[in-house]
Amino acid sequence: MASSTAPNYTIPGISTSDGGRIIDLLRTRLHALNDLSLTLKHIHWNVVGPHFIAVHEMLDPQVDSVRGMADDTAERVSALGGVPHGTPGALVAERTWDDYSVGRADAIAHLGALDLVYTGIIEEHRAAVTEIGKIDPVTEDLLIGQLRSLEQFQWFVRAHLESSGGTLANADARTERQAAQLTGRSGEKRQ
Ligand SMILES: [Fe+2]
Repeated sequence: MASSTAPNYTIPGISTSDGGRIIDLLRTRLHALNDLSLTLKHIHWNVVGPHFIAVHEMLDPQVDSVRGMADDTAERVSALGGVPHGTPGALVAERTWDDYSVGRADAIAHLGALDLVYTGIIEEHRAAVTEIGKIDPVTEDLLIGQLRSLEQFQWFVRAHLESSGGTLANADARTERQAAQLTGRSGEKRQ
């Protein structure tokens, strides 16, 4: 991952070296949020099947919220004296995860895969909270607020995958494609 040097100035009460560390951590969080907002739109465009309209329409408010999170994160980087990198090239070069791997597919199959996407971003957001919380409670608060929404959105997704017994249809999946296979309509051909 690219690493920034300490900024020339940062938020009062934080050392420039701590400010630089927060900027580094937020750089990847910004990539993750930009990636998620694009992935949510990709799913919005590629869902098919009986649950099309419910899933298609559920996703746009998530896109709007996640785009807002990215904006807040980028502006926090600027306030800390850093440079937010919002270009696709920087995102692809620096991200530590693979591109979303499901194309046109049954709506519930996409949700099975999207559940794994949310798990990844929530785990990494929580890891950033743990480290940033030792340095800057204000940035920690920003990320905690984002987590509250991200975890609610994952629940919206998981509610479609959950049985009345409380198990998730994609529980054994290790990849997005496996999750899509486990949760989609049987016999469906997917790209
Ligand atoms: Fe649309």
